[in-house]
Amino acid sequence: MGDSTNIIESVKEYYGKTLQNTNDLKTGACMTPSKQMTKPMKAALSAVHDEVHSRYYGCGLVIPEKVEGMRVLDLGSGSGRDCYALSKLVGEEGSVVGLDMTDEQLEVAWKYVDYHTQKFGYSKPNVEFVKGYIEKITEAGIKENSIDVIISNCVINLSPDKKGVLREAYKVLKEGGELYFSDVYCDRDLPDSARKHKVLWGECISGALWWEDLYTLAKEVGFSQPRLVTATPVPVEREDFKQVLGDARFVSVTYRLFKLPSAMQPARQVIYNGEITGYEGELKFDYQQTFKNGDAVSVGEEMSTILSVSRFKEEFDFQPAASGSSGSAPAVQVKIDPFVYMAQLDSKGELPASACCVSSAKKCC
Ligand SMILES: C[S@@+](CC[C@H](N)C(=O)[O-])C[C@H]1O[C@@H](n2cnc3c(N)ncnc32)[C@H](O)[C@@H]1O
Repeated sequence: MGDSTNIIESVKEYYGKTLQNTNDLKTGACMTPSKQMTKPMKAALSAVHDEVHSRYYGCGLVIPEKVEGMRVLDLGSGSGRDCYALSKLVGEEGSVVGLDMTDEQLEVAWKYVDYHTQKFGYSKPNVEFVKGYIEKITEAGIKENSIDVIISNCVINLSPDKKGVLREAYKVLKEGGELYFSDVYCDRDLPDSARKHKVLWGECISGALWWEDLYTLAKEVGFSQPRLVTATPVPVEREDFKQVLGDARFVSVTYRLFKLPSAMQPARQVIYNGEITGYEGELKFDYQQTFKNGDAVSVGEEMSTILSVSRFKEEFDFQPAASGSSGSAPAVQVKIDPFVYMAQLDSKGELPASACCVSSAKKCC
C-alpha cells in the first residue's frame, strides 16, 4: 500500500464496492461466541434489522457495561449494527453517533433509523450517522469532551494513522470517558512487503498493529494502560497470503482505555454494589480483574482512579487500603501479550472460536 490517501481510498473501495454483504464471507466463524453476552445484549443485537446485520464486518463484541443514558461514538460504524444495538441499550435519554467514510455503508445505516426508533418505542431517534474520517473526528463535527464511551469494531487497523485516531478519540472523550474497542493485532512489526498488500490491508491484516505498539501509542496520547478484555485467534489459511505474511500471527483483541485526570487516586479497596443490569453477580472488568458483588478488592492507583472518575463511580464503595498493608494493591500485570494469553486459555480448553477467517480474498472480519 502506498501513502495515506491511497490507503484510505483503497479501503473505501473495498467496503463500498468489493464487499456487498456477509454472504461474501467464506465461513461464519467471525460471530462472537454467545456465552460472552448478557441477556440485554442478546436482545439488543437480535432487534437489529437483517439488512444491517448482513453487512456486519466486525471482529469482536464492543458492547461495554453500564451504557444507559450515555453518549456513545462508534468509529467506523459501517452498516450500523453496533450503533443500533447500543441505541437500545443507552435508552431514550442516551444517544449514539456512528462515524464512517464510506457512502455505501452509511446508506444502509441511515436507511433504518426510523425502523429502530419505532422498534425501541422511542419518540425520536437517538442514533445518527456522520460521514467523516476517524483520523479527523473533530472535523466531522464531534465536539471535544462530549463523548462518554467510544466503541470501534475492526476499524483502527485499517487506518494509516493510528496515533492520529487515538489522539482524536482522546480529544472528544469526556474526562473519565472510555475507548472500548476490538481490533486485529499482530505478534510482530510486519515487513513492508506485507504492509503493501492491498487485499490483506482491506482484510484487516496488513494494517494490524504489533500489540506492544498499542501500549506505546496509548501512553503517548495520554490514555490509561490498555486493559485486555478478550482475545480471539485470527487464522490466515490461504497459501498465497501465508507466503506474504510468513510466520506472522494475528489476534482479535478487545481493549479498554480510559481518559483520566493527571491527579491519580490512591491505591485502596473497592466494593462492587452489584447494581449494573446484566452484571448483578460480578463485573468482569478485564481478563484478570473481576469485582464480585459485595467483595472488598484491593486495587492500584490507576484502577482506583478509573473507578472513581468513570461512569462506574456510583457502582463502587471506596475504602482505604486494608490496614496492615503498605497501601499498595497486590501486583497486577496489566500488560500481557495476547498470544501468551490465548495460549493460557488454550491449555485450559477455554480458547474462543476464531474471530475472523482470512482464508480467501473475501472479507470476514
Ligand atoms: C471492517 S469494517 C467494520 C464496520 C463495522 N464496525 C462493523 O462492525 O460492521 C470497517 C469500516 O470502517 C470504515 N473505515 C475504515 N477506515 C476508515 C477511516 N479512516 N475513517 C472512517 N471510516 C473508516 C469503513 O468504511 C468500514 O465501514
